[in-house]
Amino acid sequence: MNILILGSGGREHALAWKLKQSSKLNQLFVAPGNAGTAEIARNIAVSVEDFDGIKKAVLEHSINMLLVGPEVPLVKGIHDFFEKDAELSEVMVIGPAAEGAMLEGSKEYAKEFMKRHGIPTAAYQSFGASELQEAYNFLETLSPPYVLKADGLAAGKGVLILQDLQEAREALREMLVDAKFGKASARVVIEEFLSGIELSCFVLTDGEHYKILPTAKDYKRIGEGDTGLNTGGMGAVSPVPFASEAFMKKVEDRIIIPTVNGLKEEGIPYVGFIFIGLIKVGDDPFVIEYNVRMGDPETEVVIPRLESDLLDLLVAAARGNLDQAELKIKKEACTTVVMVSGGYPEGYKKGYPISGLENIEGSVVFHAGTAHDREKGTLSNGGRVLAVTSFGKDFKQALGRSYSNLEKIDFTDAYFRKDIGFDL
Ligand code: AMP
Ligand code: GLY
Repeated sequence: MNILILGSGGREHALAWKLKQSSKLNQLFVAPGNAGTAEIARNIAVSVEDFDGIKKAVLEHSINMLLVGPEVPLVKGIHDFFEKDAELSEVMVIGPAAEGAMLEGSKEYAKEFMKRHGIPTAAYQSFGASELQEAYNFLETLSPPYVLKADGLAAGKGVLILQDLQEAREALREMLVDAKFGKASARVVIEEFLSGIELSCFVLTDGEHYKILPTAKDYKRIGEGDTGLNTGGMGAVSPVPFASEAFMKKVEDRIIIPTVNGLKEEGIPYVGFIFIGLIKVGDDPFVIEYNVRMGDPETEVVIPRLESDLLDLLVAAARGNLDQAELKIKKEACTTVVMVSGGYPEGYKKGYPISGLENIEGSVVFHAGTAHDREKGTLSNGGRVLAVTSFGKDFKQALGRSYSNLEKIDFTDAYFRKDIGFDL
């Protein structure tokens, strides 16, 4: 089987690394990929939003399966594009069609879906620009902190949490009237603040059956102690120690089953991953958000823990017989720590040579923002540059391994958090 993975981050490198272990894999391609994926697969210089370019690559390389990493091509309808094209309709696509991708593409759509299916989530109301006064009135019925969410995709930046009512009113006006997040904030969801600890749960579904993948916790803030600006993710741990069997039973019964059944009942076909952002309030799970893809850096700890062949699972999902596939999970804990460029998530420089990658022992380095240069070797090429993943008998041992290997890697202004897992 020939597979094309769309994307260029640590998530896609980790997916490529796992698929390479399958005896059923013939050729593996990644578009556009990074220096890490180039070592184990063939990179194709096509953007994830260039559907015609992707079609050309699929036909040229006789691709049998398209595995979509990021959300943007899904929300823009890459699955539908494949289905409608006579030359592509036989290709298996892992990732939902545009309708299912709305679970991530519109927060209002996701909240309405949860409401229809009785899935626990924060109470909310949503408003458009012509309803500013109504939105102010609703804010006044809530107590701080105030949670404001741009309805559409905003590259992870569209959620604001504000302590002060006046500030919240101002931010709301900026979102709705001044288009603070462009079209994404043409509508805003205002919701009740939930207080608890967050974790992520990953499900693979064929639209009828599902498999629950390992849980993970990611660390989104740039600074130690979860301070400073939000990032794509600075590290992750799997499994999540506080996600007990009893808690996961509640997640399955109250959230996963109603989600998969809800999609089915509404006639929304869905083949792919559902990433459910959860918050544990007391002993009960609530949904913070849905994503229609795997997480990054969560993939770098979830996928290595699969004992089973990922290719078999993806084929079963595409063919609708996921119930017959086997999912075995490794007992060991897995952690990853992300090395970023100085300045990230604000301005940063690219193009610094990365040294020490050849000295790594007992960890796997997944590349995120890297590029290969014939003369200079591996260069930094993004905000998040590398994710250093390790196994251990528990997360502490695994983190010890990630950290001792991180000490061996260097590039100008490299930074990583030294406290991943501090709250567990
Ligand atoms: P999201 O982009 O939806 O994941 O939201 C970003 C972050 O905002 C989440 O990871 C939470 O930390 C926080 N958040 C979102 N919604 C709520 C809520 N209702 N209560 C408390 N925190 C929230
Ligand atoms: N790490 C969070 C995400 O992938 O959205």
